[in-house]
Amino acid sequence: MQVLDNISLKPYNTFGIDVKARQLATFSSFNDLESINIKPGTIVLGGGSNILFTKDVDGLVLKNEITGIQELHEDEEYVYVKAGAGENWHRFVLYCIDRNWAGIENLSLIPGSVGASPMQNIGAYGVELENVFWNLEAWHVQEKKLVNFTRSDCEFGYRESVFKRKYKNQFIITSVTYRLHKTPIFHTSYGAIEQELERMGVKALSIKAISDAVINIRSSKLPDPKLIGNAGSFFKNPSVTDRKFLELKQRFEEIVGYRNPDGSMKIAAGWLIEQCGWKGFRRGDAGCHAKQALVLVNYGNAKGIDICQLSDEIIQSVKDKFAVELEKEVNIF
Ligand code: EPU
Repeated sequence: MQVLDNISLKPYNTFGIDVKARQLATFSSFNDLESINIKPGTIVLGGGSNILFTKDVDGLVLKNEITGIQELHEDEEYVYVKAGAGENWHRFVLYCIDRNWAGIENLSLIPGSVGASPMQNIGAYGVELENVFWNLEAWHVQEKKLVNFTRSDCEFGYRESVFKRKYKNQFIITSVTYRLHKTPIFHTSYGAIEQELERMGVKALSIKAISDAVINIRSSKLPDPKLIGNAGSFFKNPSVTDRKFLELKQRFEEIVGYRNPDGSMKIAAGWLIEQCGWKGFRRGDAGCHAKQALVLVNYGNAKGIDICQLSDEIIQSVKDKFAVELEKEVNIF
């Protein structure tokens, strides 16, 4: 295990916030974890793509670098693939597409690591991680043992799992096993995908074509963290009652909403934020992305606190205009 003292975390978070950690320890197996005493609340970074640092970390930060991809077994319909939590998510997606293992092509180009994928039940373009999740192994920090979690144990919801709620800071995900389809089931109903496939002139649909379409869409409206610091959607899309949605629809005819399975309505937070005039807003190096208002950005040297303050102002103005409460998706430290 490599331990670095008094180190900048700028390269380790996709927002590119320059804070310091007293120590950064990189682990590449759960044996490494056995050898250290991890205090509850210790920050564990994967790709660092869902965290906003607002201050230095006066203690230990762990960086998960457990790698490896292994085909465990297959049956008639599925292949079961296990990946180390420190694997880069998009590299894993491409690895599966190369082998014609289907199910995660719509989740192409999402920044972050394999370990973060169940943590927040990543989702995009009509697919959520829980659709392909089989199980995972996680290190119980206090009991110092590996625990297996099935899909129901994870209690997945929209950008939610037990690891963000009741087991917050108690487990370190070490590996995830996915159940992928040997014969693809294509998910192209999301409008933007259909349009992009048409624009690309795709005749024979394939998971590679869907992945390429998703990559094109994402690259056209989401900032590349290597160029402009960001953590993807900063807020969740809020859900409101059917009645509240109808009220809003009467006042704001153009409002964008989708029905949830439980009958409530999910509103496009990007639309709400744009209506409040924030899209493309910039103050110093903190801003709201010009092509997707749900994404907050660091143009270079913003402090975490600047971005956090901007997010609070956005929440307040959406509340004032629409009486809808936005919730941050990104973890704030
Ligand atoms: N919209 C606006 N203005 C904006 C942004 C969006 O009016 O600035 C409206 C548009 O009408 C658009 C609708 O909102 O039709 C939906 O926009 P988009 O397709 O970009 O999706 P989203 O709901 O804003 C969610 C995820 C994204 C994911 C996309 C595609 C959340 C919090 N975000 O965004 O996930 O890529 O759907 O499936 O659910 C992420 O989590 O980091 C992320 C990027």
